[in-house]
Amino acid sequence: MTHPIIIDTDPGQDDAVAIMMALASPELEVLGITAVAGNVPLALTELNARKICELAGKPDVKVFAGAIRPILCNLVTAEHVHGKTGLDGPILPEPKMQLQKQHAVDFIVDTLMERPAGTVTLCTLGPLTNIALALIKEPRISSRIKRIVAMGGGFFEGGNITPAAEFNIYVDPHAARLVLDAGIPFTLIPLDCTHQALTTKARVEKFRTMKNNSGPAVALMMDFFERFDVEKYGTDGGPLHDPCVIAWLLRPELFTSRDVNVVVECESQLTMGMTIVDWWRVTDRKPNATVCRGINSDGFFDLLTERLAKLA
Ligand code: BDR
Ligand code: CA
Repeated sequence: MTHPIIIDTDPGQDDAVAIMMALASPELEVLGITAVAGNVPLALTELNARKICELAGKPDVKVFAGAIRPILCNLVTAEHVHGKTGLDGPILPEPKMQLQKQHAVDFIVDTLMERPAGTVTLCTLGPLTNIALALIKEPRISSRIKRIVAMGGGFFEGGNITPAAEFNIYVDPHAARLVLDAGIPFTLIPLDCTHQALTTKARVEKFRTMKNNSGPAVALMMDFFERFDVEKYGTDGGPLHDPCVIAWLLRPELFTSRDVNVVVECESQLTMGMTIVDWWRVTDRKPNATVCRGINSDGFFDLLTERLAKLA
């Protein structure tokens, strides 16, 4: 039995690798990819999602465009990390596959209402705007979602877009708060975890020498993507955030985690979008998320390498 998932994303090189990893995994059935504004504006994220499907040799995957901006905040983008296109690195052809006509939020709602309750997992790799809007449009989906597995937040590790906040949560903190408060089984993969998944030279060389199109293209994406973080953190390689979401679905035993309470700060300008994780359980707030803190990074890269090698 395959596990049906929807990938909500703002590609982004690390989103691209996550999408490719999912498409290469026989355990997962990607029902659709929903694009959201984030790393770059929506017109680019939906275009990039289609380019990635074609690169992976999966042009039949359905790609939907969603929210053009966050619920309350102005859109903040991250071209300084991902480049002007959001997917700088390899030169990828303009996609032939068409964007679906249906809005991403409607696709999410319809899929969850049509499919048996508790079967579809949402993998979120960007700001949570589309998911929040889907919950506003049809609140009954909250009891039908199997789980949300989200890359976002940071606690012990601090933030990456402000000292306090991680990018995905910062871009739409109100959406993140709404989604976290909806009582849906939730796994959060924060910077505390993804900062251990580094694209070291040795790991990227394994992608570069693959005998397919996907591996070398991913290596070029990593060459571009990691330069910013290598300079910032002084590490061998940069953190490969979003594929950790797919890895958690495939091999949760690669991660260490605790079930704890998470609240998103939406008031203070200084700490807007901060994820307040009650790791030491010092409040009586109820756990609302499984928060990952550690990852077996060699195990993660072995899995990713094995999967990418299966692609076109
Ligand atoms: C997250 O922000 C984006 O730039 C990446 O794609 C990832 O989803 C990391 O903070
Ligand atoms: Ca992302």
